[in-house]
Amino acid sequence: MTAYRPVKALINLAALSKNLQVVRGFAPNAKILAIIKSNGYGHGIERVAAQLTKADGFGVACIEEAILLRQKGFLHRIVLLEGLFSEAELAVAMHHRFDFVVHSSLQLEWLSSAQSKVPLNIWLKVDTGMHRLGFLPEQFPEVIKSVHQLAMPIQLYCMSHFASADESYDFTQQQLNVFHQTTAEIACAKSLANSAAIQRFPESHLDWVRPGIMLYGACATSDRVAGLHPVMTLMSQVIALKWLDAGETVGYGQTWRASQKALIAVVAIGYGDGYPRHAPNGTPVLIHGQQVPLVGRVSMDMITVDVTKLAGQMRMGDEVILWGKGLSVDVIAQACGTIGYELLCGVTQRVPRVEEG
Ligand SMILES: Cc1ncc(COP(=O)(O)O)c(C=O)c1O
Repeated sequence: MTAYRPVKALINLAALSKNLQVVRGFAPNAKILAIIKSNGYGHGIERVAAQLTKADGFGVACIEEAILLRQKGFLHRIVLLEGLFSEAELAVAMHHRFDFVVHSSLQLEWLSSAQSKVPLNIWLKVDTGMHRLGFLPEQFPEVIKSVHQLAMPIQLYCMSHFASADESYDFTQQQLNVFHQTTAEIACAKSLANSAAIQRFPESHLDWVRPGIMLYGACATSDRVAGLHPVMTLMSQVIALKWLDAGETVGYGQTWRASQKALIAVVAIGYGDGYPRHAPNGTPVLIHGQQVPLVGRVSMDMITVDVTKLAGQMRMGDEVILWGKGLSVDVIAQACGTIGYELLCGVTQRVPRVEEG
């Protein structure tokens, strides 16, 4: 359908490939499991997979995402990162040759009655301190015993997930040590590093790295990483311009009052598109290459921006960048007290993703 509303998420596929190269630069000896769950962090899982065919595999959150990829013809290794949610999934996962994480005794039980001649790739998850999913280190010897008793050939992987690779050196080091101690005697491929660890903990790269956010050109860490390019640029246009007198307010709840005569641009984007409703006054917006402040509350379909300093240049239809090229999603996330992941994943379905170039 022709898009008449000017909101779009421009997707720079070349940037995705460049970011994959950046991952390879950090971890030249590891295989790369590109994490493309949650619709490729909001970019569109199919196009992201198609652009990342040079990755060694894909990580997804659930079998629905994995089946979609198989249906679209992707023959890559696909790992179900939370494993099976029910016993009924096992036959489907085996049919499609999906790898999956095993993190609980219940999941192991489901495997115990299954049979297969083709090897099953299972990724045993150790809880090294995240305390979300995974077997505790002391359970691991028993778990390994159960795996060896399964009635099918098993290709074994061991993995864990870092809680604070972006923030805490000590805790990350501690998790790494626990992982090594737990898996030292086990003949398997090993995987630990997410984006932050890929960048900050080379000793955690092991056999497989699992980059997510850095592929999309955003940062898990507070330091910007040289060479990463934003993949998504969320943009729209000015649909109204109006002068306010000093003392007048703008938008719902009158949360911003002009301290002097001010030119307000109304931009066609809102929380119905995934622009965060809690973005405060002052959140930067990019117009004519310059940062100007969001003022007033974000509505469902519109925001208002103080463009007084650009008054001479402003026209109806002017392009507005909410994040992406020239304005990092991490900057917006920080202003809104969230993370780039949430903003990227939160772009709603009504926003057309338009491939650039
Ligand atoms: C198990 C697992 N590995 C890797 C990643 C990628 O993390 P990041 O996007 O921080 O690189 C995720 C994302 O949440 C994950 O759940």
